[in-house]
Amino acid sequence: MSAPVLEVTTQVAAAVDAPETAWGDRFAERTRRVTSSAIRELLKLTERPDVISFAGGLPAPEVFPLEQIQAAARRVLEDDGAKALQYSTTEGDPGLRELLVRHMERYGIRVGIENILITTGAQQALDLIAKLLLNPGDRVGMEAPTYLGAIQAFSAFEAQFLTVSMDDDGMRLDELEAVLRSGPKFLYVLPNFQNPSGVTLSLARRRRLVELAAHYGVPLVEDDPYGQLRYEGEHLPPLVVLDAEYHGCAQGERSLHGDVIYLGTLSKTLAPGLRIGYIVAPAEVIRRAVQLKQSADLHSSTLTQRIAAETARGGFLDRHVRLIRAVYGARRDAMLEACGRHFPPGVHWTHPQGGLFLWATLPAGVDTTELLKDALAQNVAFVPGAPFFPRGGGQNTMRLNFSHATPALIEEGIRRLGAVLARRLGS
Ligand SMILES: Cc1ncc(COP(=O)(O)O)c(C=O)c1O
Repeated sequence: MSAPVLEVTTQVAAAVDAPETAWGDRFAERTRRVTSSAIRELLKLTERPDVISFAGGLPAPEVFPLEQIQAAARRVLEDDGAKALQYSTTEGDPGLRELLVRHMERYGIRVGIENILITTGAQQALDLIAKLLLNPGDRVGMEAPTYLGAIQAFSAFEAQFLTVSMDDDGMRLDELEAVLRSGPKFLYVLPNFQNPSGVTLSLARRRRLVELAAHYGVPLVEDDPYGQLRYEGEHLPPLVVLDAEYHGCAQGERSLHGDVIYLGTLSKTLAPGLRIGYIVAPAEVIRRAVQLKQSADLHSSTLTQRIAAETARGGFLDRHVRLIRAVYGARRDAMLEACGRHFPPGVHWTHPQGGLFLWATLPAGVDTTELLKDALAQNVAFVPGAPFFPRGGGQNTMRLNFSHATPALIEEGIRRLGAVLARRLGS
């Protein structure tokens, strides 16, 4: 199976690639900006059952809380079934939003339920934000590489991209200032265990980013699907909290000054099939986003919101996050150790402190899309890095997912990949 983000690519690309019919002239201009993916056919092959795939961004099905969700669904349908199957408010289930308020407080984010809009996954949040803020041709600042689903969501609203490259501490500040100065509509940032690079933005850089964004009057969109999945080191305060501190919002008050829109999701902490994400923002932003969401889907599924709230309550979500951390932390260790054992000299890789991904960089001139063919011949797969760079580049990079395969399969898959790399690099 490929990652949700890659499925999005596949669907869009399929439409673009279809033989020209009368429909070719009927599609809106914006659809032409979503281009076909050269690696699409290759990624289909990663779905073969004999392939050890590090290509997807999938959570491990073993950690889905199946029994708890089953029991919660039964309780919801027995106790309040008619309401759970009825239309409901666009803002989202109040019980779920209350629960998220309490949950986020444990990570330092203090908001009220009027600051939360439940979305159909964080992916819908990205789409709504683009719809809310972007006019055709507007600039969006972002890390390079960055999340493919965000590139796609913003491209559909005809954004132009300004990129900031990264090192082991996240965005490079020297490039950041130039981007902020050139007037983007917003800056999209993934501070924790970034998808795809696995890199975390350091505390010093977070503070400086907030300061610079305030100086240039650029709002931040902070996408944080992985922040709770930390396997080593200290939790770092989210940008939304640092922004409130910077503007002098006292401790104990709401940690929402207003210049950061924060995005969360239950996809990585409960299950992605629930399709529950959330936007945290000033009430004014939420009200506007609610109007736009109405035209998209009226509201996210009443039933899954109720089931998620029922599953998560009573401290279950926190306990479950601890279990996921233990499982994924061991898989991350397995991948890091295997890379150390099997990758030839000249290959560099990140040391993610959390999340789902590790990022490898090969010597300049090696094309990982080409390399994927060799890897597939050995029944192992990864995602070539180039599509994650909105302005090109990254041909010698690859993303490796460590959440989905077991430690034993990780060892075997990285051994095969190491042999493919050694052959290509002649070592
Ligand atoms: C950075 C990032 N943002 C958003 C999403 C979308 O998540 P959701 O399942 O909540 O739509 C993903 C999913 O992989 C992601 O990696």
